[in-house]
Amino acid sequence: MNFDNLLLERDGAVAVLTINRPQVLNALNTPTIDDVRRAVLELKQDGAVRAVIVTGAGEKAFVAGADINELAVQRPVQGREHALRGQHVFDLIENMGKPVVAAINGYALGGGCELAMACTLRIAADTARLGQPEINLGIMPGYGGTQRLARLVGKGVALDLLLSGRHITAAEALQIGLVNRVVPASELMPAARALAAELAAKAPVAAQYIIEAVNRGLEISLDKGQRLEAALFGLVASTDDMREGTAAFLEKRKPAFKGQ
Ligand code: COA
Repeated sequence: MNFDNLLLERDGAVAVLTINRPQVLNALNTPTIDDVRRAVLELKQDGAVRAVIVTGAGEKAFVAGADINELAVQRPVQGREHALRGQHVFDLIENMGKPVVAAINGYALGGGCELAMACTLRIAADTARLGQPEINLGIMPGYGGTQRLARLVGKGVALDLLLSGRHITAAEALQIGLVNRVVPASELMPAARALAAELAAKAPVAAQYIIEAVNRGLEISLDKGQRLEAALFGLVASTDDMREGTAAFLEKRKPAFKGQ
């Protein structure tokens, strides 16, 4: 599959998806969002891929937001469609059914921060800067930012970031729970690859159901969430990987999971 604005590389069970518009700090225009959609659907279907890394090309930016050239000329109906399209693609990432690691190598602003939040885990270079600066453009986040930020860091901190539009450091992002880990910039990709490889070696069906239970569970009551958890727990008990994982423990060896 060919992409104009993405690089897609496979390294064993790990795929690396790089947003590739470094001349505009990897800003997401409509063709790029569409490339991401096609790549995510391809990776979701590819059984050989068990974990995905999302990052940005160049030294400076992960993604510096939606492309402001497009935003500047949008009309209300287009704006709504624009937001719905971006939300749909980021939902596909969140629910890809395999772990997605955002390797935040620089600015993750606006749509970039929203892209990172749609990923399963976030690892940031110590030089990264994150934020939702849309308010400074007279707009608001439209790719799920108001919803995912509040869920990740809580309402008070989310409203602070959304209303001030300020950029925060990787260290502050770690402190508020917006990212999971911070590493020196030179170690970002090795650390992201190591994390993704570690996740890729886990039982894939269990990983898929854990992600589903957390994502769906956050939207429903505790009681319904626990019902969902029990149903998925029952399903995962039907897998060869459950037998392999428990047998390997009892036989004091490393499990070899097959995703079945
Ligand atoms: N959309 C379109 N183009 C963008 C962009 C975006 N979101 N972010 C950066 N660019 C472009 C700049 O216009 C510039 O293009 P030019 O070289 O043709 O002038 C190029 O990328 C480099 O950016 P520049 O602003 O010169 O870099 P900087 O180091 O001075 O500042 C940022 C970096 C990230 C602080 C600044 O680019 C910025 O604030 N970007 C917008 C962030 C934002 O508001 N995102 C939310 C959008 S909804």
